[in-house]
Amino acid sequence: MKSFKRHTITAALPYANGPIHLGHVAGVYLPSDIYARYLRNKGEDVLFICGSDENGMAITLRALKDGVTPQDIVDRYHPMLQSALAGLGISFDHYSRTSSSIHYETASEFFANIDAKGILEQKTTEQLYDAEYDQFLADRYVKGTCPKCGNEGAYGDQCESCGSSLSALELINPISTLSGNKPEVKTSTHWYFPLDKYENWLKEWLLEGHQEWKNNVYGQCKSWIDGGLAPRAVTRDLNWGVPVPAKGADGKVLYVWFDAPVGYISATKEWAQASGKDWEPYWKDEETRLLHFIGKDNIVFHCIFFPSMLKAHGDYILPDNVPGNEFLNLEGLKLSTSRNWAVWLHEYLEDLAGKEDVLRYVLCANMPETKDADFSWADFQARNNNELVATIGNFANRVFVLIKKYFDGKLPELGELDDYDKEVIRAINQTPDFMADSLDQFKFKEALNHWMNLARAGNKYLADTEPWKLIKTDETRVKTILHLAAQLVANLAILSEPFLPFFAKKVGNTTGVDVKDWNAAGSHELISSGKEIENPGHLFEKIDDAIVEIQRKKLEENKASNQPVHEQLKPEIQFDDFTKLDIRVGTIEAAEKVAKTKKLLKLTVDMGFEKRTIVSGIAEFFKPEDIIGQQVSVLVNLAPRKLKGIESQGMVLMAEDAEKGLVFVQPSQVIQSGAIVS
Ligand code: 2FM
Ligand code: ZN
Repeated sequence: MKSFKRHTITAALPYANGPIHLGHVAGVYLPSDIYARYLRNKGEDVLFICGSDENGMAITLRALKDGVTPQDIVDRYHPMLQSALAGLGISFDHYSRTSSSIHYETASEFFANIDAKGILEQKTTEQLYDAEYDQFLADRYVKGTCPKCGNEGAYGDQCESCGSSLSALELINPISTLSGNKPEVKTSTHWYFPLDKYENWLKEWLLEGHQEWKNNVYGQCKSWIDGGLAPRAVTRDLNWGVPVPAKGADGKVLYVWFDAPVGYISATKEWAQASGKDWEPYWKDEETRLLHFIGKDNIVFHCIFFPSMLKAHGDYILPDNVPGNEFLNLEGLKLSTSRNWAVWLHEYLEDLAGKEDVLRYVLCANMPETKDADFSWADFQARNNNELVATIGNFANRVFVLIKKYFDGKLPELGELDDYDKEVIRAINQTPDFMADSLDQFKFKEALNHWMNLARAGNKYLADTEPWKLIKTDETRVKTILHLAAQLVANLAILSEPFLPFFAKKVGNTTGVDVKDWNAAGSHELISSGKEIENPGHLFEKIDDAIVEIQRKKLEENKASNQPVHEQLKPEIQFDDFTKLDIRVGTIEAAEKVAKTKKLLKLTVDMGFEKRTIVSGIAEFFKPEDIIGQQVSVLVNLAPRKLKGIESQGMVLMAEDAEKGLVFVQPSQVIQSGAIVS
């Protein structure tokens, strides 16, 4: 692999419109942190940056929803994101925010630079506009009927039924998802980045030049480029964001996907200012390796859009790699922030304080590196109890306890080596290279597995040699075994630092090993004989069923409280409960509006055995004259009740959805009035 003088590592800027969940961690923040720590520990010059993404409609919509200003929203979430990530040990050199003045200047300068080069094109086009919200609508915020397949719930950017990509103007009967109103068509002028003109360059630079990129990333880029690229608007009509620095651009801001990646550069400048460093080599020197860690929904922006912007600007280096991950599911279901089907990082850190490394371990072991993966509380518990506690925790603890017991806590000397000892030394020697080989290819799961194999080897070595029995007959041999076992623990601590920094630190503190010196690993002479080593105490603790049960319950409760009404199931009932309902088919004979009400109709329904008067809240959906003669289902044994002075003797059964409103539940053919529904 080519060697570089320094590394600029970016992690996707999280939107400051909500907290971070485990999907974000497994997809972006954990792998980037492991990689940054690994390189730093190897002695490389690393700058690891991130920050809150505070512009765009994700923020303004959240503000609308909560009835506060966009500034309130970003001020609420920025510190929350920053402290949750720090709490998990994500070791950014700098965490910035895109509402900072340095970012406004940098993003503005970036736009002005490429505009001055004549690269951007201005176009006036028709766009959908929500008058109630005084806002042009991004395609995603329009729903309507797909012109290709007739699906009535298509989004303005895509029909999820037939997969066609659309523009909101193509939709039949468009509706704004903000107000629910029919949008107006208005014209607006915007600046476009001519991605089409970068197609050939992208073929050469990316498709030919970066075939080493991960398959999931490369494949997505190839299909985008092969499908043909179109100019992309880089400005928006919005009152929140970086103002467009151009004439005639009043009321317009930079498109959030134009300014957010420039945020990486702004964050670097801010870091340099604060630490008295020079930011430019981290973005301009060809000997710098630029890496973007992202989730799969960000691939096109980081592999196609941002590199084209960097190329257009001309002063900056291009990414050397974009190790994008796939998605993490939760308990077998797709994570959903809107439905609260998520484990929130700040809540995890509160509920399971002290178990930061457990989460890091489980998410790394399940990392969605090449395909979607799943997080479940059962797996979390099993990996903690069977792998962290039973293997590494048990092994390290035994080593410390036995050294204390037999040798007063001082590392005994190494004696003559037998074949088994040599095998252990070989495992110690080889593991750093195995792990480095995996890490250099962004295979984090594989690297962690090599580490766990070394822990397993250590655990087995003790179990097989049984020093607690041998001590009675062969103390010299026990010295050698415990010496080697302690060296193996020290190696595990160094090699785990990128993955389990809290564990590594504890072991480092009590053994005096510098756990941030990756290059020292591989040696079985990390601790000198005679050195006093203390037991750091329990490194990992068993997780009981009760703890995961609480988490599972919390998940279910959150989900239920956020579920759309039609997805909330009522508690189970017995057949006997159902048989208490007497439902019959009736025929509407007469219908009239109830005076002074908007919603009520008074119906006369022929039930076969008698006629019933029923007051029903359906007036907004039906005209009285349209429903005469219709057959309906009626709950006839419902206790009578008075509505607006009229006694209602039963209830007409209705079904409801968002689109059609109320409809009758009717027999599929005309049937005798009075027929029993069962
Ligand atoms: O998808 C997201 O959460 C975006 N906020 C990521 C932005 S990454 C970068 F470009 F800033
Ligand atoms: Zn369709």
